[in-house]
Amino acid sequence: MTAAPARLVIRNARVAGFAPGPKRRADLDALPVIPRADVTIEDGRIKSIREVKPNTRRAPIDPADPATIDADGRVLIPGLVDCHTHLCWAGQRLDEWEAKRRGVPYLEILKRGGGIMATVRAVREASIESLAADLLARARLMLANGSTTIEVKSGYGLTTDAELKMLRAVRLAQQSFPGTLVPTALLGHAIDDAQPGFVGVTVRQTLPAVAAEFPGITVDAFCEQGAWSLEQCVLLFNRARELGLPIRIHADQFNSLGAVPAALRLDARSIDHLEASTREDLALLAAAPNTAGVMLPACGFHLDGRYARGRRFVQDGGLLAIATNCNPGSAPCFSMPLVIALAVRHLGLSFPEAFAAATVNPAHVLGLRDRGAIAPGLRADLLLLRHTDERALAFEFGASPVDIAICNGAVAWRAH
Ligand code: NIG
Repeated sequence: MTAAPARLVIRNARVAGFAPGPKRRADLDALPVIPRADVTIEDGRIKSIREVKPNTRRAPIDPADPATIDADGRVLIPGLVDCHTHLCWAGQRLDEWEAKRRGVPYLEILKRGGGIMATVRAVREASIESLAADLLARARLMLANGSTTIEVKSGYGLTTDAELKMLRAVRLAQQSFPGTLVPTALLGHAIDDAQPGFVGVTVRQTLPAVAAEFPGITVDAFCEQGAWSLEQCVLLFNRARELGLPIRIHADQFNSLGAVPAALRLDARSIDHLEASTREDLALLAAAPNTAGVMLPACGFHLDGRYARGRRFVQDGGLLAIATNCNPGSAPCFSMPLVIALAVRHLGLSFPEAFAAATVNPAHVLGLRDRGAIAPGLRADLLLLRHTDERALAFEFGASPVDIAICNGAVAWRAH
């Protein structure tokens, strides 16, 4: 990890980004841009953003000065925030993917004991060190694609010990990762039929053990046919709320089971997936003051061509985030820029909407007020792009747009 210099100045940058805080409705009409500015970072925080007027006479930049970066008109944006991933896993499921290509549906593979449960078996076998090392390698790949903050779910353990092992692996990987890894306890990811009374054990034993070791951690569940029923999710979430923990839910990925209104009643921080949501449920979520919708277009791209109705959701005033959902089954995607590109093509978002959904809004979902934007006082997680027009972020796909990634004020990754 690179130690942060006390001071770093990025000169002549085209600065693009929303003001801090969640954005919806008219906030999303245009992306604020300063055509040329110097951004000064001190002790890991943004100190100032000074606009440079055209034709201003300036002292030349010394290319050998490690504390100054000449952006030369290229775009500087906030680090991307990936608020929904399953980045900690072991093993691989390429044979299953072949089966999927031959037409076997995702939920059918899960029903046959494969899918999530195949990864559960591999994770239970894996050591904490190997889980952390693989996670770190994947997180670095994501950083090279612009993600400076990455949420990481457990959910492939499904016993108290194995769920704790996953969450500890996230903590271990964090020690060597220059960006931020945010753990989420996905205790309700699948039903392990081999464990008698599995749901009760998860609620009564695993949940309190996780809450004791990871105070304030967010609790998540996958509400779906063949996974956790709505009733089982509500049981888990009621207990989580009693313990003072925030909740998130995977809802309406394949079937609409009534999870949206139920999760809203429980004041969920976000409701994720939404591909199969009814118009009524989507409108209900859009009107919610605190709960965000998280859409995952890499899933539709990889699995079955089904996408959530992003356009309708933002038109209805919904608070929207987008994320990779990176996992070894439904979305093996490491790139937030690709997700932005998919969101403008398949969720129907405008570029400013997709930009907010990848920066300020997911920071809000994760409860992190100090990032997702470029403003004095915020954490200096920044990306200098290859591009001089920010719209190239959505226009191009398949290569990283990032020239330099800065985490907490230090250069954490460079393209060359
Ligand atoms: O969000 N849907 C449930 N969980 C993941 C898939 C995880 C897996 O297939 O291993 C998702 O798509």
